[in-house]
Amino acid sequence: LYVALFLATFLLGSIPWGVIISKLAFKKDLRDEGSGNIGTTNAMRTLGKAGGAAVFVLDFGKGLVAGWIGTLVAAHLATTMMAAASETGAAIDPLYWNGALSLTGLALAVSFAGCTLGHIFSPWLGWKGGKGIAVAAACLVFVFGPLGFIIEVSCFVIGIVVTRCVSVGSIAAAAVCPVLGLYFYWGEWVPWLIIAITAGVVIWAHRANIARLRAGTENKIGSKKREAA
Ligand code: G3P
Repeated sequence: LYVALFLATFLLGSIPWGVIISKLAFKKDLRDEGSGNIGTTNAMRTLGKAGGAAVFVLDFGKGLVAGWIGTLVAAHLATTMMAAASETGAAIDPLYWNGALSLTGLALAVSFAGCTLGHIFSPWLGWKGGKGIAVAAACLVFVFGPLGFIIEVSCFVIGIVVTRCVSVGSIAAAAVCPVLGLYFYWGEWVPWLIIAITAGVVIWAHRANIARLRAGTENKIGSKKREAA
């Protein structure tokens, strides 16, 4: 079930909306424009507000659908375990419920990893892709709930406001993810590890941005300068 969930959300995440929109509506390939990234930031930068908004809505949308699928699977697991517990009498055993909680958390973490990694390593783009921010953020609505999502968005916005670099906001949000995971998934170490590794891959996907930040050449909002990914 978890393998099927990972594959389904990976396939969903792998749909390269940035490339599709830029080619169909703008007769350009986002990979050859600006930073070369296929995400919202580069779409805004090179296609304009309408193109950027379209890429954001579609990438965020696929993250929401992946999180929703993960939630359905988690709900299915919870219902099955409740039925089994009432039959065997395990319902009074707290350890049983600890195990049940871990399994539902695992479904959410797997859907988060699937859609984010599908976006970053899209088979349709030769196992390359975007940096995973919009899709991961959307899925976190389900993985951490509204409070965690608001904290994540706050870190993202603070990073951008302070530095005018979208990548700093993105890296800050990704870095906070395993910390928030400790709060929301304390004791559920396998789901936590999956969330933390995925956040690590998102930071790794920003390696070119990190190199530019270190060199002081990162693209800033409002600046004309555009450097390749
Ligand atoms: O989410 C992507 C963002 O963090 C950086 O985008 O195009 O500046 O590399 P870009």
